[in-house]
Amino acid sequence: MVTRISDRTVGLERRDFLRLVIPGAVSFASAGAALIAASCSSDRGLEALTNRDGYKRREEQQSGETREIALTAAVGEIEIAPHGVYRTWLYNNRFPGPEIRVKAGERLRVSLKNELPEGTTIHWHGIPVPNAMDGVPGVTQELVKPGESFEYDFVADPAGSYLYHSHAGLQIDRGLIAPLVVEEKMPIAAYDREYVLMLDDFLPGEPKPLPGASGMMGGEVPPYRGLLINGRLPASPAVFETKKGERIRFRIMNPSGATTFRFGVAGHKLSVIAADGRPVKPVLVDSLFIGMGERYDVIVEAANPGAWTIAAAAVEGNSPPASAVLRYTDAARTIPEVNSTTFGFEGGRVLELADLQALEPVEKRRPDRTLDLTLSGGMMTSAWTINGQAYPNADALEVSEGERVRVRMINHSMMLHPMHLHGHFFRIGETLKDTVVVPPHMGRIDFDFLADNPGKWFFHCHNIYHMESGMARVFSYV
Ligand code: C2O
Ligand code: CU
Repeated sequence: MVTRISDRTVGLERRDFLRLVIPGAVSFASAGAALIAASCSSDRGLEALTNRDGYKRREEQQSGETREIALTAAVGEIEIAPHGVYRTWLYNNRFPGPEIRVKAGERLRVSLKNELPEGTTIHWHGIPVPNAMDGVPGVTQELVKPGESFEYDFVADPAGSYLYHSHAGLQIDRGLIAPLVVEEKMPIAAYDREYVLMLDDFLPGEPKPLPGASGMMGGEVPPYRGLLINGRLPASPAVFETKKGERIRFRIMNPSGATTFRFGVAGHKLSVIAADGRPVKPVLVDSLFIGMGERYDVIVEAANPGAWTIAAAAVEGNSPPASAVLRYTDAARTIPEVNSTTFGFEGGRVLELADLQALEPVEKRRPDRTLDLTLSGGMMTSAWTINGQAYPNADALEVSEGERVRVRMINHSMMLHPMHLHGHFFRIGETLKDTVVVPPHMGRIDFDFLADNPGKWFFHCHNIYHMESGMARVFSYV
């Protein structure tokens, strides 16, 4: 079962790995033997390995080089063809910002220089960094003021597809977003080439808080001018080349301000191999939903020569789909045979949460503490709340180190909410994630996490307008 999974390449903590393959190594764990015996007889791997006694705090383990990276956040210009040139806020004058790519276990030292007219910070979305490196203004650090610098320093681990972005106000909708790829030491799948796809919504000018209430949506959508893949509108799409017979790995990321997408590649199936960076048993689908802050890695087999539309359609709002082109180098045509207006995702299998099964052991011990959170807002008021409170006028969610915490969410509003927990992965069903979409109209989602990384951890809706209007809390254990 799991013996082919090598070490930390799939995010196994070394101690878990030892427990998997060297039963003798677990004798230090009080309840170890019985648990091992029980779990080895199941085909789902181990569970309940970490109990309170065996609890171990998360620690950084550097196992590679140290990489120094300099980022400058500054006002710059971007061309969004065919609309024109816009002044906006950028990392190193690029949009999306420059990809950071390292190997699992390498240490990242990123110095951020702020040349913006306002304070900013960077959040390393998905990576369980030490709390002081988490980049949440007013929670883990002060805003980096104009003209000042800040050095982020953390070990990039585990491997996976992540994002980095500003965590100040609505700055995500300025353009302060970028991919962060932590490569596996041993690839989790075989592939011939790889592309990163950044799905985004395009807002010219300054993002402003949205008024409350109105319309069928029970909440407003910002005045976006279109949807982007890698910074390009459908009229001038990015083209991704392939050859017949290749396997392509797409890292699909949604750093957008307020758009959930349905993603698909015309004429091709998606084999999903990772969710929020964590490897899963491959599952073959035709399309998938991806909320703000989520990432999926998929393998596409290039078996259908031609030029095809890669489409990402908004679930809320009415912008036309973002699109790009998958083009076989030997294809006669360069224009997709199926364009984004006719490629409507009719039929086909859509990825569901229940399809996701982590390749690594997921723990299912009974929770030590359960928190019920009601998400609401969007009607009559511009506030978005958790249990009736709008952050920052909201109580911290107190937990204790070493606890297994269960969070049960119910969505009383008419919009969906991609809820993101900083500093931890959580178990949802049979998989691990850091962001999960809670469906509208009484949708329910439960997840568990182990409080093994002390600090103050932001937990919020990744629709930045909802976050800024209160749909956020802090899990606190120090
Ligand atoms: Cu992607 Cu709190 O952030
Ligand atoms: Cu929300």
